[in-house]
Amino acid sequence: MSQEVKKSGRLIRAPENFLAKDDVKSPALMRRKFLAASVSTAATSMAALGLATSTRTAHAAVGAGDPNILNLPAHSTGLGMPVAANPYGMPSQYEKGLQRRESPGLTRVSAASVAFTPLQGTFGIITPSGLHFERHHQGWWDIDPSKHRLMVMGMVKNPKVYTMDDIMRLPSVSRIHFIECGANTAMEWGNVAVPTVQYSHGMISCSEFTGVPLSVLLDDCGIDRKQARFVLAEGADGSSMTRTIPLVRALDDVLVAYGMNGEMLRPENGYPLRLVVPGIQGVSWVKWLRRIEVGDQKWATKDEAIHYIDLMPDGVHRQYTGIQEAKSVITTPSGGQTLLDKGFYNISGLAWSGRGKVKRVDVSVDGGRNWRQARLEGPVLTKAFTRFNIDWVWDGSPAVLQSRVQDETGYVQPKINQLRAVRGTRSIYHQNAIQSWKVAENGEVSNVQVY
Ligand code: MTE
Repeated sequence: MSQEVKKSGRLIRAPENFLAKDDVKSPALMRRKFLAASVSTAATSMAALGLATSTRTAHAAVGAGDPNILNLPAHSTGLGMPVAANPYGMPSQYEKGLQRRESPGLTRVSAASVAFTPLQGTFGIITPSGLHFERHHQGWWDIDPSKHRLMVMGMVKNPKVYTMDDIMRLPSVSRIHFIECGANTAMEWGNVAVPTVQYSHGMISCSEFTGVPLSVLLDDCGIDRKQARFVLAEGADGSSMTRTIPLVRALDDVLVAYGMNGEMLRPENGYPLRLVVPGIQGVSWVKWLRRIEVGDQKWATKDEAIHYIDLMPDGVHRQYTGIQEAKSVITTPSGGQTLLDKGFYNISGLAWSGRGKVKRVDVSVDGGRNWRQARLEGPVLTKAFTRFNIDWVWDGSPAVLQSRVQDETGYVQPKINQLRAVRGTRSIYHQNAIQSWKVAENGEVSNVQVY
């Protein structure tokens, strides 16, 4: 490797974290300021050591004379904060820019809106509970669990009403799964619409959910296995969220969950009870779950007759297309970030499939002409996020970064024009095309569509 490519890549993060408002205005100015500052710090240090300075050698000597090393800070000499100063731990004050955010102007009322997960700033495969995306049709509630009830009725021998205590006494399981809103990446059907991965792909999160398998409750109520074909799940909020789920799926891996990432669900995510329907679009993960009805046909409720359907090019609506097909996205470098210099970068991203496990992820840095296989970081779990990484040495010329997932069924993530050929451009839901990030010569990364 030449001296030039040995440098480790430094990057300005997306506007959502670490940057002051003024800096966000001009990434180019920020880049110049950063380069000037790093060269002058190194130059001062090396002058003190009587060394000749050049940009090339500045990098190696950057630690010499650094006041952050030479002057002992208060945290090395004084007494720190007491235990339990924050009885419920919070992120560092320096991380407060990393937040879920509402996309301005997306909906007219914030209670019926989305707050997107900042995928560009999370690591590994678990989304911290405080950053889990939120999607409500009629606002969220913090429901008193002692008053919450779940009714199971319909084609069962013994209809029952469960309290939270009843449910939490039953045998439970914990599983890691992604939840993706069917409308994730919806804004990009026609053309590029949003600048960062938070807004293009942030209607997805991955958590460990704890609860009772729905099959346990259905058996407890004596489900009529001869006649029953579907179940209906209903939420307790004002949106009357109701979704049909085929019985085969309900008896497979669906959970009635009260736990998320080791504690009770957060109110925004359905406290005290929600349905977990692995691999299926988020709308079926009914929050504030209050009723399960067993029946022999689909209900065609408003949320499956006029919403969450796919408008096909011939004008026909496709209904009940719940499975979230395989999809992947590079989370860094990604839109809104700026690469500060040439050299080594770790390209990192997330892949998932509603049909099972991720088998492989390939990455291209030239807009899809050449592909290299990325490393899948374990664990690789079914219907969960899989983190991938791949090394890249940026030579400073324009590049287009893409990732392409293949799942265990052999399904390969399509290009946007392949998807449009089948689905047209008037759909809202189930947009799982390959995402392209353009790296310009000045290091700025932006959202583009490449065919
Ligand atoms: N359940 C109820 N009762 N009310 C809702 O508005 N929104 C649905 C689903 N379950 C919703 C609901 C939609 S569209 C999605 S994408 C997911 O919840 C979002 O779950 P989250 O807010 O925990 O991310």
